[in-house]
Amino acid sequence: MIVLGIETTCDETAAAVVERDADGRGRILSNIVLSQDSAHAAFGGVVPEIAARAHVEVLDHIIANAMADAGCNFREIAGVAAAAGPGLIGGVIVGLTTAKAIAMVQKKALIAVNHLEAHALTARLTDATPFPYCLFLASGGHTQIVAVRAVGDYVRLGTTHDDAIGEAFDKTAKLLGLGYPGGPQVEREAAKGQPDRFSLPRPMRGRKGADFSLSGLKTALRLEAEHIAPLSDQDVADLCASFQQAVVDVVVDRLRSGLRIFRSRYGAPNALVAAGGVAANQAIRKVLQRLAFEVGTVLVAPPLELCTDNGAMIAWAGAERLALGLTDTLDVAPRARWPLDEIAAAKGALQGTAAYK
Ligand code: KG4
Ligand code: ZN
Repeated sequence: MIVLGIETTCDETAAAVVERDADGRGRILSNIVLSQDSAHAAFGGVVPEIAARAHVEVLDHIIANAMADAGCNFREIAGVAAAAGPGLIGGVIVGLTTAKAIAMVQKKALIAVNHLEAHALTARLTDATPFPYCLFLASGGHTQIVAVRAVGDYVRLGTTHDDAIGEAFDKTAKLLGLGYPGGPQVEREAAKGQPDRFSLPRPMRGRKGADFSLSGLKTALRLEAEHIAPLSDQDVADLCASFQQAVVDVVVDRLRSGLRIFRSRYGAPNALVAAGGVAANQAIRKVLQRLAFEVGTVLVAPPLELCTDNGAMIAWAGAERLALGLTDTLDVAPRARWPLDEIAAAKGALQGTAAYK
């Protein structure tokens, strides 16, 4: 089956066409992502109103290009999927309404996809990873450790109490006068710096559970920077290196704990799966690799363009749901907030997990 997917929850306008075989194998026929980075750069972060307007302006063209690239027309698709949340509500409305219009006019199935679910299922598109597996999702908006047990069956093992990891990188970059998005810039500076020059806290380390907290780290970094200001280039590099090392240490500790919880509840995971823009960070990737090895599993890290927000993951999640008969009606509502574990609840105990492995 062929599914069109639309993603507009943050600052990427994206559309893609994906094919799913009867045996569950996936193939990307097209995948177009237009980043709005430059529209938000001057503000050091995503401005919701600017994002929503930019989605309206280009989404039709992006969809037309995705269909043309895939070499297919609307008659050939089985359904249209859109990210219905969680995200910036203005953008979500644009994407979901467009999907509804296509579904209605073309008489196709509509699938309202949870954006986090799409990140969670990407490993099945790229690597056909079998359930259950442990997902580490770290982006600008989310930091979660999730047990992915089946389509629609997700158990959140850990989340952040305040900032997301990507957000902490972005705020650090902003504080130090580096550009947006901050992650890549902080990583570049960190490579030139000394990670042990500043002693920054490792929030939540050693705590029970697998939750994160990053705002204390951000504040500690700001105090150190203010203390030694004005900052030389080397100061900036050392601050970035110390910050990144603290994040790496926290990720190792929280994920190790999350994997332990996973194993005690669900047995050995078939993989540790990385998703979200932060997975681009080489230092973080390295520790994920080490942790996967440590617990006797493999690291599945989809190619970067599929780790960050894109339409292919939405189309794929739509195809996985459609294959199970999980479609939505035209009155489905966009949601700014939509935790992963509410997906299964909303659909009831539809799939006794074992049958859908
Ligand atoms: O998944 P993504 O593209 O968008 C969402 O936030 O949903 O993730 C973007 C986030 C930004 O906060 C960015 O700073 C962070 O991922 N990021 C990184 C790196 N590349 C992107 N963080 C740390 N190191 C990187 N190399
Ligand atoms: Zn995302």
